[in-house]
Amino acid sequence: MANNLRPETMERITNFELANAFIEEQVAAVRAQVGDKKVLLALSGGVDSSVVAALLIRAIGKQLTCVHVNHGLMRKGESEDVIRVFGQELDANLIYVDATDRFLNLLAGVADPERKRKIIGAEFINVFVDEARKLEGISYLAQGTIYPDILESIKAAEGKQAVKSHHNVGGLPEDLQFELVEPLKLLFKDEVRVVGEALGLPHAMVYRQPFPGPGLGVRCLGAITRDRLHALREADAILREEFANFGLAEKVWQYFIAIPDIKSVGVKDESRYEGWPAIIRAVNTKDAMTATIEEVPYEVLHKITYRITHEVEGINRVLMDLTPKPTGTIEWE
Ligand code: XMP
Repeated sequence: MANNLRPETMERITNFELANAFIEEQVAAVRAQVGDKKVLLALSGGVDSSVVAALLIRAIGKQLTCVHVNHGLMRKGESEDVIRVFGQELDANLIYVDATDRFLNLLAGVADPERKRKIIGAEFINVFVDEARKLEGISYLAQGTIYPDILESIKAAEGKQAVKSHHNVGGLPEDLQFELVEPLKLLFKDEVRVVGEALGLPHAMVYRQPFPGPGLGVRCLGAITRDRLHALREADAILREEFANFGLAEKVWQYFIAIPDIKSVGVKDESRYEGWPAIIRAVNTKDAMTATIEEVPYEVLHKITYRITHEVEGINRVLMDLTPKPTGTIEWE
């Protein structure tokens, strides 16, 4: 573990000058580590994997293959952004896998949150392994491990238990044990963002709010259905758009919609209209262990409520969750 610890002398990366020096150093280190060998990366579109991808493209270009698995639980437009930025603008070797049906078929009828997480995590590995097996001559696996992940694993090794199981690309089968490339493993999140911007990634991608691995799967509460998942994705896109319009997007740490598996009676076009409630969650936190509720102006809430109930099929009410953590967790599942 010792060489995984950040040296006390390491300066915090707060500006482009320091970021560029870090990038130069890591480009050289990656080239020295992998030589002319090939590297594989699971590119989720999250901040960490995106910054690793951009860094490795700079270092080794087409020796890197990125695999983006769309598990059907991404937010609106996210997979499209990955394809545009990495496949087109950065001209990466990008394999895009639309595995929506694989995931949603396995999840059909499964209501228990931890079972849902396990299914999503395991299937993610299955899809990734299927793709990796089709490729030849891969020697390395790149990962967007950052310093808090290292600190987490130290805690885990000391036997302190996590409240919810989180997943990354651990657990690959024996024949796919690659050596790891983890160029961000000594960086904190704010430093990763500065490095990402210095590498030319779009601001929105680098300052993206945290998004759980199981994605909308843990926000479409209970057993996921395609129609409720669709409503969730659309409602969440409206929430994000309006938070951006009102200058809240970078002020609030995490904000999203959850939709429970219940319907209430409402009225639309003078007829009875049964629909789901969309629940708004908007929280601030430092480390996600505790969280406070962001005060969202009523003007914003009214606009979001109006748009969601008028633009999204199947939703007839909008609620706001005012529960801090504790007692609520940030996610509902
Ligand atoms: P909770 O709900 O535990 O969430 O208060 C704390 C933070 O963790 C995120 N989260 C997850 N991230 N896989 C992830 O990668 C997961 O299964 C998962 N569950 C929660 C959550 O979005 C919040 O930022």
